[in-house]
Amino acid sequence: MFHSGMPVYGSDFIDRKQHLAKFNTFIKNNQHIMIKAPRRYGKTSLVVHLFELHQYNKIYVDIKRATSLQSLAEQIINEAYKFVGVEGIIQKAKESISHLFKQLKTTLTIDITVAELTIETLEKNEKQLLDEVEFFLYAVDLVEIIAKKQNINIKFAFDEFQDILNIADKKILDQLRSVIQHHRNVTYIFLGSIESVMNKIFSSKASPFFHFARIIALDGLNIEELKVFCEEFFVKQQISYDQFLFSVIDYLEGHPFYTMKTLQSVYYKVLEEDKDTIQKDDCIEALTIALFETKSYLDEVLEKIKQKKHHHSVIWHLANGKKNKTIDSPTLYKTYKSLEDMGYIKKRERGEYYITDIFLKILLQQNSDIALIEEKIEFSGLV
Ligand SMILES: Nc1ncnc2c1ncn2[C@@H]1O[C@H](COP(=O)(O)OP(=O)(O)OP(=O)(O)O)[C@@H](O)[C@H]1O
Ligand SMILES: [Mg+2]
Repeated sequence: MFHSGMPVYGSDFIDRKQHLAKFNTFIKNNQHIMIKAPRRYGKTSLVVHLFELHQYNKIYVDIKRATSLQSLAEQIINEAYKFVGVEGIIQKAKESISHLFKQLKTTLTIDITVAELTIETLEKNEKQLLDEVEFFLYAVDLVEIIAKKQNINIKFAFDEFQDILNIADKKILDQLRSVIQHHRNVTYIFLGSIESVMNKIFSSKASPFFHFARIIALDGLNIEELKVFCEEFFVKQQISYDQFLFSVIDYLEGHPFYTMKTLQSVYYKVLEEDKDTIQKDDCIEALTIALFETKSYLDEVLEKIKQKKHHHSVIWHLANGKKNKTIDSPTLYKTYKSLEDMGYIKKRERGEYYITDIFLKILLQQNSDIALIEEKIEFSGLV
C-alpha cells in the first residue's frame, strides 16, 4: 500500500537498498551516525525499518515531542529498564518507591546496586532536589551501564536531535558529549531535519559534536525501485496504467512523501470511481490533490523564506530558471548558502543549486494567482 503521513516500515517500506546497506554497515559496527535530510525524506522510516529488520536492541526517542529534559530523561530510563525486564519504572516509582524496591530486588536480572542508584536518583528528582540536566545525563549514562551489564550493544536513536536546543541551554551539547564519548556499548544515531542546526552541531569545529558521528545525507528514493514497487502493486490490484504514471514518478524526483501521497491519491481515485485503468488525467488530478494537501505546510515555508532579505527573490528565480539581475554576486552567494543551511536548496556536483522540495518549486512556478485559487496547477516540464 502507499502510505503518507506516518513513518512507514515493514512491507510498506520501499527498499532503499543502497542506503539500507550503507547505514546498516555503520550501525552494525557500532559507528555513531548523523543522518540529515530535508523534511519528509524518510529519516524516521529508515531508522525504524532498519531496527525492525535486524532486530537490534534499540531505544528511540523523538526530541520534538519532549516538553522538557526531565520528561525525556524519564522516557529514556523507562526504555533502559525494559532491557532488564522492568516495564514502566517511572510510573512505579511515582506510585511507591518501597514497592518498587521490593519488586526490583526479586525480579531484577542485573546488579541491585544499579537499581539502588536509579531509585535514589528518582527519589531526588521527585523531591526536586536534582537539576534536570543532571537527571538527563544520568538517564543517558544508565543506558550504557545497562548495556554493559547485559553485554549487549544498544542502538540509541535521537530523532529531531536539533530540538534539544529548544528544551535546554546550548551547554547541553558539551555536557552530553562528555558523557557519551565514554560509551562503548551504545551506538548513537542522530536524526535531524533542520540542516543548518544539524550542521552547526556536527560539522562546526567549535562544536563538541564535531567528528563525533559519521555524517550521512539521505537522498530521495531510488526512482527505479519506486517504479518496481508501483508496478508490482498495480499489477496485483489488476489495475492497468498509462505510462504517464511513470513520468509523474520521474517528475517527483524520488521525494518519498510527495510520491507516496500522489500514488495514494491515484489509487483512491481509481477505487472511488471503480475503474481499472489509470489515465493521464487521473495522474494530473492526483498530483494536484497531493499538492493542495501539502499547501499549508508550503505556505509556512514560504513565510519563513520571506522573513529573510532576498531569500524569496533568489529561490523564485531558481525555481523559474531565471537570472536574478537585481542582486550582486556576493549577496547572491550568501543567500544561496543561507537557503542551503535552511535545507531548501542543495548543490549539484557541477556546482549549480536546485530546490529540494519539488512541490515548493512547483508552487513558486505558478504565475497566475487566480488559477491557483481555482486549483489549476501548471506542472512545467511534466510530459
Ligand atoms: N522507504 C520508504 N518507502 C515508502 N514510503 C516512504 C519511505 N520513506 C518515506 N516514505 C514516505 O514519506 C513519508 C515521510 O517519512 P518519514 O516520516 O520517515 O520522514 P522524515 O524525514 O522522518 O520526516 P520529518 O521531517 O517530518 O520527521 C512517509 O509517511 C511515507 O509516506
Ligand atoms: Mg521524522
